Parts: sequence; C-alpha cells; structure tokens
Amino acid sequence: MQVTLKIFRYNPEDNRKKHFDTFTVEAEPTDRILDLLERIKGTEDGTLGFRRACAHGVCGSDAIRINGVNRLACKVLVQDLKSRKVTIEPILGLPIEKDLIVDMEPFFDHYRSVMPYFVNDDPPPSKERLQSPEERERFDDTTKCILCAACSTSCPSFWVNDKYVGPAAIVNAHRFIFDSRDQAAAERLEILNEQFGVFRCHTIFNCTDACPRDIQVTQAIGEVKKAIIDRNLE
Ligand code: SF4
Ligand code: F3S
Ligand code: FES
Repeated sequence: MQVTLKIFRYNPEDNRKKHFDTFTVEAEPTDRILDLLERIKGTEDGTLGFRRACAHGVCGSDAIRINGVNRLACKVLVQDLKSRKVTIEPILGLPIEKDLIVDMEPFFDHYRSVMPYFVNDDPPPSKERLQSPEERERFDDTTKCILCAACSTSCPSFWVNDKYVGPAAIVNAHRFIFDSRDQAAAERLEILNEQFGVFRCHTIFNCTDACPRDIQVTQAIGEVKKAIIDRNLE
C-alpha cells in the first residue's frame, strides 16, 4: 500500500519559511511511522531531521505529533492509522531546532527542578534499605516514565505558560514523594506548591492520553495535589 506523509519542515539555516513537504512511500501494515520516516530520509530527502534511538519504545526520544496527537513514532503502526494520509509535526510548546527536532532543555529544566533523585541522609545499612511490596507498589506506576515529553507538550496549561512545571516533572516527583525510603518529600511538595507548580493543572487529561507508558499521569498529579493540601491542613 501507499501512505502519504505531510511533514512539517523548518531549517533555521535556510531562508524558507516553516512549511510542509509531502512524501508518498510504499508501506506494509506492520510498518511503524518511524520506519516511514527512515525510508524518506534514506531514499528521498536526507536532510529530514527527527530524533530516534532505540526504535522500541524505551528511550523516549521520538515523540512527535501524528495527526494532531502526541505519540512515539516507533509505537504507531500504519495499520493503526484511520487514513493513508498522515500529518507529522513536532511536539508543541518547546522551541523547534529543525524539522521534527525540538529543544528538550526547557523540559529537562522543569524535570530537574523537582529533585528527581533519591534523598536519604541516614547511614546506608549493611545490605539494603528495606521496603515492603505494598510500599513499593505505592509509586510503581510513576517509575515507568521514559521522559519522552509527550505529556507535558500535550497539556494546554503548558502551552499557555511554559513556566508550568508540567506533568512529566510531577510524575517524576511523585516517584520519590511516595517512596517510603526517601526523606525529601516535604521539600518537593513545597516546590510543587509554588506559583507554576502542580495547581496549574486543570485536570484536562491530555497527558494521560498521550503517555506511551500508560502511566496514570492525571491520577499521579491528583495524589500530589492531595498530599500538599493534607500537609497544609496539618
Ligand atoms: Fe512520557 Fe509518560 Fe513520562 Fe510523560 S509520564 S514523559 S508521557 S513516559
Ligand atoms: Fe495538563 Fe494533564 Fe493537568 S493535560 S492540565 S497536566 S491533567
Ligand atoms: Fe526510542 Fe521510540 S526511538 S522510544
């Protein structure tokens, strides 16, 4: 079968305005959008810019907009598309560097701002810091994040104001806030209670729909909001 891809193009080093180029390629139903992009780059236009690494939904580097929704290019099959015509664009809300490649630094700045690492100042035990299966289960869902940015760049609150820390950062804060071994939950909750923190979320749910790891993003955000409210009531 043939699939037609309308692909967003932008190169800061030439004088052309932002535009779309159209390519028609042969495809199998089991081909992924990433395969089609590779085919175009390999045979039709070697200047096409897009990110990818693992090609198996693990590294999170190939989040793009496919027919208006955020997806990983390596996880969408041709047979999953409703039409043989596909529009491909970069994710929204981050500066475009070239074609489908965006600058991820503002995203990672938000991620780093919530202390996404384990904090425990007690001397390490001789073997390991023990945790019950129930305690581990409490934050299991949010350990699955691959930092693809599909959630934050699908969030209207983030589009309106990119100072909003965004769902991905909150997911990664959640992973440590609810870890029974960690000692910095109060500090993280204080950070997320600030002006551009978790209460910028208006429960729109785009983030949950966009997550390629099926993380219950909106639920995690709700749990962080509740933890802040409970703490303020104490
Ligand atoms: Fe990607 Fe999901 Fe992590 Fe957001 S929560 S960065 S969508 S893996
Ligand atoms: Fe945005 Fe998700 Fe909240 S889309 S508004 S972070 S529920
Ligand atoms: Fe790694 Fe798609 S290329 S997740």
